[in-house]
Amino acid sequence: MNQAATLKEWKDYSGAETGISDRGSTARDTSYRVPKVLCFSSGKGGVGKTSIVTNLALAVSRKGKNVLILDADLGLANVDVMLGITPKYSIQHVFSGEKSLSDVILDGPEGIKLLPASSGIQEMCLLDESEKLFLLNEFDSLDEPIDVMLIDNAAGISDTVMYFNMASEERVVILTPEPTSITDAYALIKVLSQGYRVNEFSIIVNWTNSKKEAQNVFRQLTSVADRFLGFLSFNFLGYIPRDLCIPKSVRQQKTALEIFPACRASQEFERIAEEVLKQKGKRNDGNIKFFWQDLLRL
Ligand SMILES: Nc1ncnc2c1ncn2[C@@H]1O[C@H](COP(=O)(O)OP(=O)(O)OP(=O)(O)O)[C@@H](O)[C@H]1O
Ligand SMILES: [Mg+2]
Repeated sequence: MNQAATLKEWKDYSGAETGISDRGSTARDTSYRVPKVLCFSSGKGGVGKTSIVTNLALAVSRKGKNVLILDADLGLANVDVMLGITPKYSIQHVFSGEKSLSDVILDGPEGIKLLPASSGIQEMCLLDESEKLFLLNEFDSLDEPIDVMLIDNAAGISDTVMYFNMASEERVVILTPEPTSITDAYALIKVLSQGYRVNEFSIIVNWTNSKKEAQNVFRQLTSVADRFLGFLSFNFLGYIPRDLCIPKSVRQQKTALEIFPACRASQEFERIAEEVLKQKGKRNDGNIKFFWQDLLRL
């Protein structure tokens, strides 16, 4: 089945020729490169998820990795706006069989790839098994394997936010020193740990005056979590200072790394990118399909 196969062809083929379960076992082939999948969420909105994801994507790509951003913000997709590109299609068109995945994935700056998924997220939860397998195989047909996938989630604790967190290898919670942001981050962690048994979190504190302030916020969050949520593991992934280079670059629809490479925030994006790549992927037996298999509950 090639990349241009339509969903209908796939359904006919998988039903008539081999049967769904056979296809399922093919989909679990393990002889592929292992991507790192990080999901960025926040309890409160507007804390800097999209700014962080776009800049980190660039920083990771500059370190020689193929990076894909999945824009999973159902209500307010704006990765494309921040990168200055205009999507014509979204993953919905793949589900409807109108486009192949490679038609939908866009090229951003410096080789970053963007998969606009927001308008297809709800459909994703409703796909039947053959449609899910079709999607997995589309991922497998991409010309270049993805090394790192960054998911820009919506704010809050909706089902789709949980869905993407559950399917990811590393869950990054972003918060700022504002008390409301800390309580909302705590609420998100509580739901993920108690409702979905997630027990490892990476934390980025954004919009801080200093590293010390970021570390205090981290301690505040983790001490409350330790006290009320039992044993959870927290990793301080980094912090981003309050820095005007971020809104200025957003206004120009560029990343801060592109136009203000020397600003303090850009330096921290570089540092976090190094940290992300240093951490060894936990899934050493799979490929990007494992993300989609988890996501699509195959
Ligand atoms: N460290 C920072 N210093 C200064 N401004 C920042 C910083 N981080 C983010 N911003 C600004 O805050 C605004 C919100 O950021 P962003 O859109 O990245 O947040 P978000 O969490 O993705 O929001 P939403 O929840 O709506 O998706 C943007 O205008 C951005 O320029
Ligand atoms: Mg956003």
